[in-house]
Amino acid sequence: MTNPIITIDGPTASGKGTVAQRVAHALQFHYLDSGALYRLTALSALREKLALEDEQAIACIASHLPCHFKGEQIWLDKEEVSDVIRAEEVGNAASKIAVFPGIRKALYSLQRSFSKPPGLVADGRDMGTVVFPLADLKIYLTASVDARAERRFKQLISKGFTANIDDLVKDLAERDARDKNRSIAPLKPAQDAYILDTSHLTVEQTVMEVLQQYSAISVKK
Ligand code: C5P
Repeated sequence: MTNPIITIDGPTASGKGTVAQRVAHALQFHYLDSGALYRLTALSALREKLALEDEQAIACIASHLPCHFKGEQIWLDKEEVSDVIRAEEVGNAASKIAVFPGIRKALYSLQRSFSKPPGLVADGRDMGTVVFPLADLKIYLTASVDARAERRFKQLISKGFTANIDDLVKDLAERDARDKNRSIAPLKPAQDAYILDTSHLTVEQTVMEVLQQYSAISVKK
C-alpha cells in the first residue's frame, strides 16, 4: 500500500503554507514546503553570486542542497535560515530560478523523498500536477491579489521586515504571471483538483474544508 498524499497548490500568499501545516498536524502526517526548497536554492545561488539565469550551476546546487527540516526550523548546512529565506528578495529570486527545467528536475527526487508513512501533505505550485500526480487528494487554493497582499504584509511585518502594500500587490502580480506562464510545470489546478477560494475564509475554515474533503475520499475508499 502506498502512503496517502494530499497536495495543496496555489499562488503566492494564498495561505497554503499555513493550511498545509495545520492539515499535516491534524492528521499527524509529514509536511513538505516545496517553496522552501526553491528559496533555499535561490539563497545559495545569491550567496555564491551566481547569475540567476545560470541554469546548470544552480541545478547543481539544487541536486546537492544540504538542507534539513527540524520541526518548523529550516536549516541550510549549519545555519538556521527559516526567516532569511522569507525575505522578498529571496522569494523573487526563487520565482526566477523556478522557470528553468534543469533546476526543477534537480529538486524532484528530494521532494518525493518526503513521502513516508503515515502520509504527506505537500504544498507548492506543481505538487498535484507534476511531483505527486497520483496524490489521493489535490487541493488548489486561490485568493484575490488584494487579500493575498494583505496577508503577506502582515506576515512580513510580524517577522520584522518592512513592507509596502502597493509594492506587494505589484510583486505578487508579477510573480503570479511568471509562475502561470512558464513553460514547465506552470501554476494551474490539476484536472482533478478541488478548487477553494479563500479570499473570505479564515485559516480554520479552510483547514476544516480540506479535512472534510479528505475524510470524504477516505470513506469512499
Ligand atoms: O511558495 P513560495 O512563495 O515559498 O515559493 C517561492 C517560489 O518558488 C514561488 O514564487 C515559485 O516560483 C517557486 N515554486 C515553484 N514550485 C513549487 C514551489 C515554489 O515553482 N512547487
